[in-house]
Parts: sequence; C-alpha cells; structure tokens
Amino acid sequence: MSNQSVSLSLPRAQLTGHGLEFSDSSLGQALALGAFLLQIPSSLDVNPGFEICRNFYRPRRDAQDVLRGHREAPHERSKLGYEDRPNQVEQLQIESHLWREYFPLPITRLLGAIKVVTLQALRHLFEASGVHQDHWATITGGTLDETSLCYTTLNHYRSGVRGTLGIVEHTDSGFITVIAADQPGFEIYHQGMWQAVPLEPGCFIVNLGDAYQILTAHLRLPGHAVLHRVIETVPVRDTPDRSSFTVYMGPNFDMSLYQYSGSGALEVYQSFRAFSVLKAQGMGYGFHDRV
Ligand SMILES: [Fe+2]
Repeated sequence: MSNQSVSLSLPRAQLTGHGLEFSDSSLGQALALGAFLLQIPSSLDVNPGFEICRNFYRPRRDAQDVLRGHREAPHERSKLGYEDRPNQVEQLQIESHLWREYFPLPITRLLGAIKVVTLQALRHLFEASGVHQDHWATITGGTLDETSLCYTTLNHYRSGVRGTLGIVEHTDSGFITVIAADQPGFEIYHQGMWQAVPLEPGCFIVNLGDAYQILTAHLRLPGHAVLHRVIETVPVRDTPDRSSFTVYMGPNFDMSLYQYSGSGALEVYQSFRAFSVLKAQGMGYGFHDRV
C-alpha cells in the first residue's frame, strides 16, 4: 500500500425525525465507502467524553477521582476493560450495561445519547441496504431497540510512544461505530491510497464494520467495512494528547454472523467469535481473554 496521503471529503448526514438525511443524496456513496460524517445533535456536548479520555489512564488521586484509575482497575464485570495496544493507543472498553457502574453520570448520559444516535443510524442503514426488519433480532441478537453487544472505546493516543502508528490499519468487526475525535489523524484507505479525513468538530465519523459488510454483500445496497487507521501523533507543547471515543454496535461474540444469499435467504456465515479471534491475530492483537 502507498503511504501517500490526500484529503477525503466524506458524505455528510444529519438525523431528523425521518432517520438519516444525506446531503446531495449521498447515502449510496456512504454505504459504498463504509464511512460518513454525522452531524452531532446540538443537544449533545461531547466534551465530557474527551475529558475522560484524557484521564482514564492516570493514577487515581483519591476515591472521588472517578475519571482516573482505569488502567489499574479490574473492571471485573466487563469482558473488555483496559488494553495497552502495540501502537500509540491505549484503550478502555466498557459494555453499555456497565457504563452506569464504571463512569460518572455525565459520561453515562453522553454515551447513552450517542447510543440512541448509533441505533437510529444503524436502523436507517439496514433498511436502505434491504435488511428485513423481521430478521433484526436474529442478525443482531437484540430487539428493535438494541443490539446484543454495544460498548464504548475510550482512546488515548500516547504522543510519547514514537515510531509507530496511532492505531494500525483495521476494519471494525461489528455493524457500526460512531467516533468523536478531538484532533486530525484519522485516515481511510480508498482508491488505492490512504486519504486523510479532515477533522470536523461538529460531526461524528461513522464507520461500517465486517458484520455489516458480510450481511449485506448480496443486497441491493451493500455496505462496505471501511479500512481505516490513525497516523502517528506527535507531542505538541501545551496540547493534550489526541483523544477519541466511540460507540460500537455488533453481534455478541457467542452469535453467528449472517449473510443474505443471492436469492435473499438469510444464512449463517461464520461464528463471530472465530471470526474475531482470527482478525485480532492478523492485527497482532491478543483477543479479549475474558470473552
Ligand atoms: Fe476502528
């Protein structure tokens, strides 16, 4: 792959009472690319999310210091938790049913609101691709109000770790990921080259993942699992390290991935856990040992 980097302008959407509304009728382009910008609703303040990204890895000063101390904390009820990645990034991943237990209220509220946005976007995209509403529960393991696995990832990009990417190139494994970032550095592999996605502070970046791509491969509007990475971040004096946080939705690891056949039948594709283990190995990551 080339290291050349040019700028990529993503399709842009906003959520209305009718679902996602894309400017310039770019829904098809967004599905083909597997990524688009989603305007952050004006009622949402994403700053508490960045605040916890800038603190979760630091040692706790006292028992009230709830933003910190997550590197050492066992997060026993979570199957995910803290991970020191081989790249610049260190991550804290917590499932949505545990947000209230491990995070302060402003973070829980923010993530809950982003979860609603994520679900609305996913439902709209599924409908556009041609996924039958009757199959939602089978495919996602949830109901129309839920998928069986939803978690947040808080990312701290350690500018002091040099000579490696922010995060290595990968596709996300689930259906959809909604990302908020405070600095540029996000890139998408498109048309044979890495292309930088300019930072738009008023927008989330939305990615489609492997489970979406596999499911819709033979449908009328298939969605692509976008290959993405974060380039190396360098220390800048008096500027915090790069932060981002995401809300992810996918099937549970004990479920199967599904795919619509060419004739429109819904068929089991592969165990999601087996798929995820193989993928993590390919990235040089250990798969979550508690899953
Ligand atoms: Fe990702």
